[in-house]
Amino acid sequence: MPSQKTGFVQRVFSEVPATYELINHILTLGFDIIWRRRAARIAAMTDGDQWADMCTGTGEMAAYLSRLAPKGTRIYAIDFSPPMLEEASRKPEADRITFVSSDIKALPFPNESFDLITMSFATRNINLSRDILVQSFAEYYRVLRRGGRFVNLETSRPSFAPVRKCFDLYIKLFVELIGGRISGSRTAYAYLAKTIPRFYPPEELAGIMCQAGFEKVTFQQLLFGLAAIHQGTKL
Ligand SMILES: C[S@@+](CC[C@H](N)C(=O)[O-])C[C@H]1O[C@@H](n2cnc3c(N)ncnc32)[C@H](O)[C@@H]1O
Repeated sequence: MPSQKTGFVQRVFSEVPATYELINHILTLGFDIIWRRRAARIAAMTDGDQWADMCTGTGEMAAYLSRLAPKGTRIYAIDFSPPMLEEASRKPEADRITFVSSDIKALPFPNESFDLITMSFATRNINLSRDILVQSFAEYYRVLRRGGRFVNLETSRPSFAPVRKCFDLYIKLFVELIGGRISGSRTAYAYLAKTIPRFYPPEELAGIMCQAGFEKVTFQQLLFGLAAIHQGTKL
């Protein structure tokens, strides 16, 4: 039985699949595409043939991975929203991807199943509390093999205060307005707008990954710190 918060997030994403990608591209002026591709290229430098994209949504990251993966790589894409997965299954790359409907907090995979785990723009959504985020990352750690990598792309908190303030104002003015208008779900985009300014600075997110067991945790900031790619390894 999902908790109230989990049920709310699941409903929010089930309302927006048809317009989800378009709204992201408009709101980020196309930067989300550049950032996802960059994270996919970093992720694809992984050895091993079992890869998984968590909280895949409409499957953009999984599709990029499938284009970069060596022949024989199995790519799994996991999400708990059936409408999002249905949208993902329409991608031309879908026949190279195995879609799995599951809550990432309790993955239906044995320990040490994957060589690579990716996640893009979903950390804010699984951050129902700091403890739950640590537990979710620990679940990723559990299903990774030794030497396996976790690559995470997410919006971030710019450290330079004027940039941070402009970013927060932009989010406040446009995310709910544009997202709500195009998708028809104001609730979904009001929720998404609220999660961005409340998110962790990159150093703190790196600390949360370490707390979940990851080692060699590093991050790179993108576009004045508006987003960041974190990487960690299971040694
Ligand atoms: C903001 S979207 C990100 C989608 C995609 N990764 C991207 O790059 O655009 C967040 C996705 O995470 C999924 N999600 C949120 N919490 C989840 C959970 N606990 N288990 C599985 N999926 C979850 C939602 O259904 C949604 O599709």
